[in-house]
Amino acid sequence: MDIVLSGIRSTGQLHLGNYFGSLRNFVKMQHDARCFFFIADYHSLTTHPDPKMLHGNVKNVLTEYLAAGLDPEVATIYVQSDVPQIAELSLLLSMHAYVGELERTASFKEKIRKHPDNINAGLLNYPVLMAADILIHRATRVPVGKDQEQHLEMTRRFARRFNQMYGVEYFPESMPYNFGQELVKIPGLDGSGKMGKSEGNGLFLVDSDEVIRKKVMRAVTDAGPTEPNTPMSEPIANLFTILKAVSSPDTVQYFTDKYNACEIRYGDLKKQLAEDIIKVVAPIREKIDAIKADDKYLHEVVGDGGRRARESASRTLADVREIMGIKPF
Ligand code: TYM
Repeated sequence: MDIVLSGIRSTGQLHLGNYFGSLRNFVKMQHDARCFFFIADYHSLTTHPDPKMLHGNVKNVLTEYLAAGLDPEVATIYVQSDVPQIAELSLLLSMHAYVGELERTASFKEKIRKHPDNINAGLLNYPVLMAADILIHRATRVPVGKDQEQHLEMTRRFARRFNQMYGVEYFPESMPYNFGQELVKIPGLDGSGKMGKSEGNGLFLVDSDEVIRKKVMRAVTDAGPTEPNTPMSEPIANLFTILKAVSSPDTVQYFTDKYNACEIRYGDLKKQLAEDIIKVVAPIREKIDAIKADDKYLHEVVGDGGRRARESASRTLADVREIMGIKPF
């Protein structure tokens, strides 16, 4: 049976990129496999969040997981720091991760560029901790967005290296997963790049209908096509990428034809896009407040999820210790 695992960092509210890249897929898969979904609070520490905010962010992500339809009856939902075995496995795997390969990771290089004042060892070790998250339950499928592809490649490399080094077939090949399709990259509304939590270009699951309409109407566009079949500029291609995620194929075809015939009115495209985003977001948003107010329920969900995750994690860690020669007297 497939073991599915995924996680989201607890750095704030979830946006449409998190939803289409990952969360929606975990929700769809939860009834067909053994599933582990967690909140990556250790990973969020690399950016030094205010300790007063950290717990609130964990609660936001947990609430949004449940509001989006994750079912704690079938899936194991837990907080990363409630499973200390992950930290130990990360330490053990780090002995076989080379500094050169960690320094070459795209996400590390990007962090150096963006935050030269905070290049901590946690950032360098980020892919090792992520491999530990995945391998602690020996997951075979990992529903993630396109930006996590390289981290998954590294997870497989560390797993293979471990198997070869100790002459075992212990860790599986953990594959990124999107139902046989290309991994998703949801762009931002600012004309370039991907939608992110802190880029100021996001549409969030907590956004009201009015906020969604305003943000979409303000999205960057261009002066419009002047000849039939003009290739799309990046801001327009980005709007179509979001349209493909939220709208019906007929709607996408309609606006594509209008664009190709130079008859498109970007205002009409944006109005339709905003309404179709609202159809995705509103039903999730409407559940958030009630779930968030129910501390007892949230406590039970992660209490039970943490227990199940620790059971599975302890089994793997006992095997790994044994394989590496760490034995009790
Ligand atoms: P994070 O918290 O940045 O994002 C969580 C998930 O959302 C996806 N995502 C996107 N997908 C498409 N378009 C976007 N614009 C977009 N933005 C974010 C990400 O691909 C991810 O799937 N390192 C991970 C968290 C993590 C993890 C793991 C994931 C830690 N351990 C183990 C899977 C398995 C991260 O930073 O995701």
